[in-house]
Amino acid sequence: MCGIIGVALRRGNAAAEVYDGLERLEYRGYDSAGMSVKTDGGTVTVKRGGRVANLKDSAAGLSGNVATGHTRWATHGEPSDKNAHPHVAGKFSIVHNGIIENYRELKEERLKGGAEFVSDTDSEVIVRLLNKDYSGDLLAAGAATVKRLKGSYALGILCEDFDGIIAVKYKSPVVVGFGEKGIALCSDIPALPEWVSAVCVPEDGDIVSISAQSASFYDGELQPANRVRRPIFAGQFNCGRGDYPHYMLKEIHETERTVRDTCDAFFRNVDVKRLTDYVRNADRIILTGCGTAYNAGLVAKRFFSDRCGVFCQVEIASELRYSPVHITGSTLVLAISQSGETADTVEAVSSLKEAGAHVVAVTNCGYSAITRVAHLTVPVCAGAEVCVAATKSYIGQLAALYLISNLTSDIFAARKKLLEVGGKVGELLKGCGSADKIAKECAQSSAVFFLGRGADYAVAVEASLKLKEISYIFSDGYPAGELKHGTLALIDENTLSVIIICDESLAEKCENAVSQVASRKGKVAVITSLEVVAEKLKDTAAVWKIPECSAQLSPFVSAVALQMVAYKTAVSLGRDPDKPRNLAKSVTVE
Ligand code: M6R
Repeated sequence: MCGIIGVALRRGNAAAEVYDGLERLEYRGYDSAGMSVKTDGGTVTVKRGGRVANLKDSAAGLSGNVATGHTRWATHGEPSDKNAHPHVAGKFSIVHNGIIENYRELKEERLKGGAEFVSDTDSEVIVRLLNKDYSGDLLAAGAATVKRLKGSYALGILCEDFDGIIAVKYKSPVVVGFGEKGIALCSDIPALPEWVSAVCVPEDGDIVSISAQSASFYDGELQPANRVRRPIFAGQFNCGRGDYPHYMLKEIHETERTVRDTCDAFFRNVDVKRLTDYVRNADRIILTGCGTAYNAGLVAKRFFSDRCGVFCQVEIASELRYSPVHITGSTLVLAISQSGETADTVEAVSSLKEAGAHVVAVTNCGYSAITRVAHLTVPVCAGAEVCVAATKSYIGQLAALYLISNLTSDIFAARKKLLEVGGKVGELLKGCGSADKIAKECAQSSAVFFLGRGADYAVAVEASLKLKEISYIFSDGYPAGELKHGTLALIDENTLSVIIICDESLAEKCENAVSQVASRKGKVAVITSLEVVAEKLKDTAAVWKIPECSAQLSPFVSAVALQMVAYKTAVSLGRDPDKPRNLAKSVTVE
């Protein structure tokens, strides 16, 4: 949701570093891109609407030792050249990730003060305020400006009078990276330059003065602040997409490895004793997240109900703050988030923590905002997930949640089952011919309905999200039993219903759904792990028989099958599955 980057180099060309960083950060927004570079002749800014590649030629001609850059996901003002960042005024250039909620009032004030605005963005007020507040002391101007802002912001500020960058953080993510070539700031750790070997994460309200030699951290009152520097190896994240045509396909193929690494990290890095106490003593468990992370909660709810014998509920994080939930000092909240930066999730669980709940983050990103809120973190070890559509991280979340749900029973047996089911995913991905057949049907349909019962219903909801976000075909995930209560009215020869049947005890009832759709001339596809179902339905539907596994763990396999269907549908329609229109990877605004 907008990416910012900046580098101050002791050696090398900062413009080239920032351009490469923008390519890595593009998953955060691809409405426009821009950069400002401190050159011998002063600060030069270039920006273009559309993808980062549109900036390539202009960036190639720039050189300097300090630069900032931005990839935009538009919130205020349409995607265009003029609304692209950096925003420039007087001696300043700024890049911003976040939302300035009181921008109208501030803009009005600056207009009255004689400023002329050239964009429709909320961000431009920041650069206009800086100009007003600056009289030689850069940090003081930064502090005065941000005191006026309401909302969220990670900022990279250049000033003609300073051979470095000022970074500011409030609610939006930014990290500062240190390495042999100099110092960098970036929205996400995986997009940092390869030479970065350590990071500091500023706290909300911090202002950081960055030069090629050092970074000084201050709190909002400009008092020096001590922030822990932690070693990392940025190179491990920048692995590209290899021979795969898209990140999505590459990342789906990393599922088995994700399950394995998530299991290993659970036993190596988690405070299992404390976590077991939380689970054992929980009077209720609340699973929460947004989008795919929420959908992982829908599957995991069944793990907890089965294993822990405790009341368990799943809540959409963006709604949780408005829902009447009962919290006690024993309530356990499992906050699920790939990025760990989703504003709705972070805000929701912060308020549950304040109300007394134990908060456990289940996340793919260490050092992220959610880990700072949580009492404990359970890592999902998917590695960098670049494709906007979450795939391997969803399965990694399921693996982590399955382990947590088994803490009070036989955790080692649970681990063994997970490794086995990871292997089934590997087996599935060796033969995806049926995915082509079902994808073809999807691509030729006006709407696609995913139906299932029990855990298969939870998978149906995720399958629907995956298909709609990357193919732009209308779809819905629905309980198979609810079909006759309304959705059946939408079924005709142009719609496809994909029915997931992996639980033998529910199979016959799901087969009814197949008949109900087929008798209304709707097209039907079936994803099943059950040989008998595949055999029975082969003449009525396009059937994909996936590897057999227990009903409880079948989502690990069926969801991957449906990710492949979504991927192949999107590609056949000429969509870019890695960067679907209007979306961005990490949603850091509420
Ligand atoms: O980083 P998070 O897991 O918190 O992100 C939550 C959702 O924004 C995310 O899962 C989104 O729905 C994906 N685009 C789904 O593929």
